[in-house]
Amino acid sequence: MEFITYEVEEMIGIITINRPKALNALNSQVLDELNETLDNVDVNVIRALILTGAGEKSFVAGADIGEMSTLTKAEGEAFGKKGNDVFRKLETFPIPVIAAVNGFALGGGCEISMSCDIRICSDNAVFGQPEVGLGITPGFGGTQRLARIVGIGMAKQMIYTARNIKADEALRIGLVNAVYPLEELIPAAKKLAETIAKNAPIAVRNCKKAINEGIDVNMDEAIVIEEKLFGDCFETEDQKAGMGNFLEKDKEKKLKVVPFQNK
Ligand code: CAA
Repeated sequence: MEFITYEVEEMIGIITINRPKALNALNSQVLDELNETLDNVDVNVIRALILTGAGEKSFVAGADIGEMSTLTKAEGEAFGKKGNDVFRKLETFPIPVIAAVNGFALGGGCEISMSCDIRICSDNAVFGQPEVGLGITPGFGGTQRLARIVGIGMAKQMIYTARNIKADEALRIGLVNAVYPLEELIPAAKKLAETIAKNAPIAVRNCKKAINEGIDVNMDEAIVIEEKLFGDCFETEDQKAGMGNFLEKDKEKKLKVVPFQNK
């Protein structure tokens, strides 16, 4: 892989978009490599992923403007689909994904962070959807996910004005959950990932599925989704160990010793 690095630290996987000369902008090759990296994550071992960008200045400065500049209508649509397919894979990835946003998160950079379950950022982070200034719409999910995360009014304002916002404003509008000094960002992401990884893996996966699938349907259908995923946890080693530990007052029997069971 030329532009993606993937490291494993126990039960945490760290994906780094590594194209610093272009501030980690997403061209077709980066998208293909990211897709392949996700396909190769061993979800029987890894319990949470961290997604970040190489360097100290940029998470991802957007889709590659050079590559997009000569596209036809059909090619533009296909490029949008390529990005959307990878981002959807990330969004529906069976385990939680934390975006550790270490600088510019513009256009496709803001969009890829919104495909992750949780966003935290460094104090030098800048978010925005500058596309209308380039004569296009956000094309990797920005028109859909931003409104779902920060509300329709704020999303429309950000997208129509193409105005960038800094980390403190991203925190205020709920686009990120926390802001850290740059050097503390990855340690904080790892700590968060480790906290998630200590919990019952089947339950965590089912929570992700329930939240993702429930948010798109009405409440009557949503609670049925929850009921099924709740029921699915029973009779698993995790459920027996988790409840058994509580009943036996033995909190030392950590859930993490229970290997993930393929269903
Ligand atoms: N695509 C391609 N190359 C990019 C890029 C991008 N999105 N963003 C930065 N680069 C390249 C620059 O061209 C430059 O390359 P050279 O050194 O070869 O000239 C290099 O990265 C460094 O960038 P700058 O010199 O511009 O760095 P800066 O510190 O002065 O500015 C910046 C940083 C404000 C992020 C600026 O680079 C910028 O505005 N980038 C574009 C941001 C943007 O508009 N992103 C949205 C793209 S559209 C999109 O994403 C569509 C979609 O939804 C799918």
